[in-house]
Amino acid sequence: MDAYVVTGGGRGIGRAIAERLAAAGTVVAVELDPAGLDWVDGSRVRGVVGDAGDEAVLAGAADLAESAGRLVGWVNNAAVFRDVPIPAGFQIPNQDGSGVVDAVGNGVDPAVRGERVWLWEAAYQRPWGTAAEYSVVPQRKAVLLPANASFQLGACLGVPFLTAHRCLTLGESMPDRLDQGALTGKTVLVQGGAGAVGNAAIQLAKWADARVVTTVSSPEKAQLAAAAGADDIINYRTQDVPVEVRKIVPHGVDTIVEVSVARNAEVDAQVIGMHGAVAIYADDGGTTVTIPIRPMMGPNARWQFVLVYTEPNDAKGAAIEDINAAVADGAVRIGAEAGLPVHHFPLADAAKAHAAVEQGITGKVLIDVADL
Ligand SMILES: NC(=O)c1ccc[n+]([C@@H]2O[C@H](COP(=O)([O-])OP(=O)(O)OC[C@H]3O[C@@H](n4cnc5c(N)ncnc54)[C@H](OP(=O)(O)O)[C@@H]3O)[C@@H](O)[C@H]2O)c1
Repeated sequence: MDAYVVTGGGRGIGRAIAERLAAAGTVVAVELDPAGLDWVDGSRVRGVVGDAGDEAVLAGAADLAESAGRLVGWVNNAAVFRDVPIPAGFQIPNQDGSGVVDAVGNGVDPAVRGERVWLWEAAYQRPWGTAAEYSVVPQRKAVLLPANASFQLGACLGVPFLTAHRCLTLGESMPDRLDQGALTGKTVLVQGGAGAVGNAAIQLAKWADARVVTTVSSPEKAQLAAAAGADDIINYRTQDVPVEVRKIVPHGVDTIVEVSVARNAEVDAQVIGMHGAVAIYADDGGTTVTIPIRPMMGPNARWQFVLVYTEPNDAKGAAIEDINAAVADGAVRIGAEAGLPVHHFPLADAAKAHAAVEQGITGKVLIDVADL
């Protein structure tokens, strides 16, 4: 049987880690003041090895490891993980979140304790996703949340807004950075403007002063796209999208934020403007695509794929700063009145929250993990 020692196991992140390891069936020793042991059920938490790291603690841990068969690792309460193996299959899901900094690791300014932050990619190649009361992330993945923004808004930023920023800035005729006025004179086509990424693309593009044309499949979704700020809304089921787009912007659009390239490639080829880009971030509606070559050669168009996790670091860093600036400007909103209905689930119903996303619920799903 494996054993872990969790330092600071009685409080905050240390306690959360110890609880999770214990729940996964791992023997856990917690290093803490025994007075903080109210949560320990005794059946899986094998030992308490004492106060702050002194000789007695080490000896206690060694005893525990011997009795458990093997000491696997140490987990520091300041959220510093030193090559600590985690139990096989241990994975807390979900990338996005928000909250208050509870503890910091070595080298991180302790002044950030107590600050409000939003998180991105918490679960990417890491076990500590955000469907939990506590998460552990590298410093750069915890971004100070502007004072005017709610925790709910902060939890909606991550994946959709980072993806949207990348899509809006990868084009040859587009700037690398977004800001007020950065897209003045540019036109963006957002395919699927009632989607989470589509909504983020509309909001960011409008903040940057682009003209935003978007497609939807129903009058209800048209209302959401309008609420997000789209200038022109086309129902792709009932209208001829290329004809409508060319009426609005005869010379074609500068960027297409594309959710369903398998279905829309022909349309995109007909409406792309000079040096325009099709930013492909999803394979909704089909996993392969046929691209008409000649119509794309004329405008020197670019087709580029986007996966938020692997985008270049510089682009990611720029996106984080720009998104925060948009939030601070009050340009990012959530809720049906912003075209992004928010659906809340308690932590105990995390599976239902995931099912709602899988079933294509319109808007953003939030799991409430704490009363903040
Ligand atoms: N590459 C990345 O880094 C990245 C990041 C985030 C999300 N994604 C992926 O992107 C996709 C969308 O994510 P999401 O969170 O925005 O989902 P979502 O909220 O469900 O939005 C998807 C939207 O696309 C619309 N849509 C579907 N087919 C369309 C078509 N042919 N033309 C125009 N609109 C169409 C849908 O509405 P209708 O069906 O009613 O038209 C819906 O409004 C998912 O597959 C997700 O996994 C990828």
